[in-house]
Amino acid sequence: MQQAASREAVAILDFGSQYSQLIARRVREAKVYCELFRWDAPAQRVLALRPRGFILSGGPASVYEKGAPTLPDYVLRQGVPVLGICYGMQLLAHALGGRVAPASEREYGPAELAVTDLSSPLFTGLPFSMPVWMSHGDRIEALPPGFVVLAATANSPIAAMGHSQRRLYGLQFHPEVVHTPQGQQIIRNFLFNVCGLHGTWTASSFIEEAVTRIRAQVGDRRVVCGLSGGVDSAVTAALVHRAVGDQLTCIFVDTGLLRQGEPQQVVDTFRREQGITLVAVDAAQEFLAALAGVIDPEQKRRIIGEKFVRVFEREARKLGQIDFLAQGTIYPDVIESAGRPHAQRIKTHHNVGGLPEDIRLELVEPLRELFKDEVRAVGEALGLPEEIVWRHPFPGPGLAVRIVGEVTPERVRTLQAADAIVLEELRAAGWYRRTAQAFAVLLPVRSVGVMGDGRAYGHVVAVRAVTTDDFMTASWARLPYEVLARISTRIVNEVAGVSRVVYDVSDKPPATIEWE
Ligand code: XMP
Repeated sequence: MQQAASREAVAILDFGSQYSQLIARRVREAKVYCELFRWDAPAQRVLALRPRGFILSGGPASVYEKGAPTLPDYVLRQGVPVLGICYGMQLLAHALGGRVAPASEREYGPAELAVTDLSSPLFTGLPFSMPVWMSHGDRIEALPPGFVVLAATANSPIAAMGHSQRRLYGLQFHPEVVHTPQGQQIIRNFLFNVCGLHGTWTASSFIEEAVTRIRAQVGDRRVVCGLSGGVDSAVTAALVHRAVGDQLTCIFVDTGLLRQGEPQQVVDTFRREQGITLVAVDAAQEFLAALAGVIDPEQKRRIIGEKFVRVFEREARKLGQIDFLAQGTIYPDVIESAGRPHAQRIKTHHNVGGLPEDIRLELVEPLRELFKDEVRAVGEALGLPEEIVWRHPFPGPGLAVRIVGEVTPERVRTLQAADAIVLEELRAAGWYRRTAQAFAVLLPVRSVGVMGDGRAYGHVVAVRAVTTDDFMTASWARLPYEVLARISTRIVNEVAGVSRVVYDVSDKPPATIEWE
């Protein structure tokens, strides 16, 4: 990855902790750019970042076990500060001549930290005593030469250690988790007091750098970008447009499977407000015809994916000579993590922007290094409207996976109307931003109801609302009864043919977020 020369950065080496990404988020929240690497990543890739400090994550192994991840030699050779967390601390101790051994009991959960050296730059401005989160089986029994104890807990006499001259530090607890309330201050102390960084990496500095990079890559050639209506592609388009203006053409394919009113909103935002050249294709008929009679969700996904590529390609060919495809790939899509196999990505089935082999386009992926919340901050700084920047994620195959059973134009209209009510009521109640994803699902069953004087069989709509940070696990949202009541009453009154509304109270796992 190309780096701006002036950018201050920190490298985080991942030894398999479930919290590694969280460390990266915390560093970024301190406005310091960082990247996460697997512990065994090639030295030259890590050093290309020109790190001004290293953070070594935790991990499940024991340093004295055969085959356990080791501390790469280049880390200490750089002469820059190092902060080892949990396993990272044990690695430092082990590598520098200390002794690490199994603790008599595994320590997991809250502990009270007593700082024994308040003059250490790591603990500047912090109280003498504070709650921290522990999760370890091994502990340090003897410090490496030159190190001193900085803090202790009842079970860990060496809960923090440091060598101030060499600027090497270790923490037995996890400063990155919310259960260590002052953890962010400890991380900031490491970044600012120990590494001497300034915390200047913001949305606007990112935009400036990204614009320079995009201009250098694209030159005077042309770029195409597929807009989906979602935040990632929207921010990508706005950023590339800021960099190369009219050399960018966006293509928006209306599959007929989007939320109510969304196609018009995309066209208005990008064409009118942002002044972007936008080709909007109404392909609803084509998609619906291809889906007629299809019930199997995987088959729906495949049909929509293939059709999308064909429609996109057809439109892209009409544009003449194009050399680049801008895509909204974000950091969680590409992050390499020691604790998670590469294949486990959310967007594997994302089909917006895929193109056939024979159209050879070079990729422009300006958001590759950003987390979702950072993408949103950049979107706001670029002046995109709130509804787009804060929009919940939406599956590529759209409402087709939220219509259980056959997708027909009538069923799409029914679902769109019910879904619009769910979102409207959540917004009105201030719950939209408190949920990560919320929507209506149309079920393939009919249920009896009383309509006027008679009995009628109507559609059943399920309402789904979840909270989650990473979409890998999710909890059903505890929406207030009054909000659910308003949603239900309005759907039954306003959406023709629906006589029953149910709320989905399943967590993920075992249930997924989508129904199909
Ligand atoms: P699940 O249903 O697997 O969803 O819990 C996790 C996240 O992925 C989205 N999702 C999809 N996105 N194409 C997509 O682009 C799909 O086929 C698809 N299926 C699920 C889902 O909306 C949620 O954000």
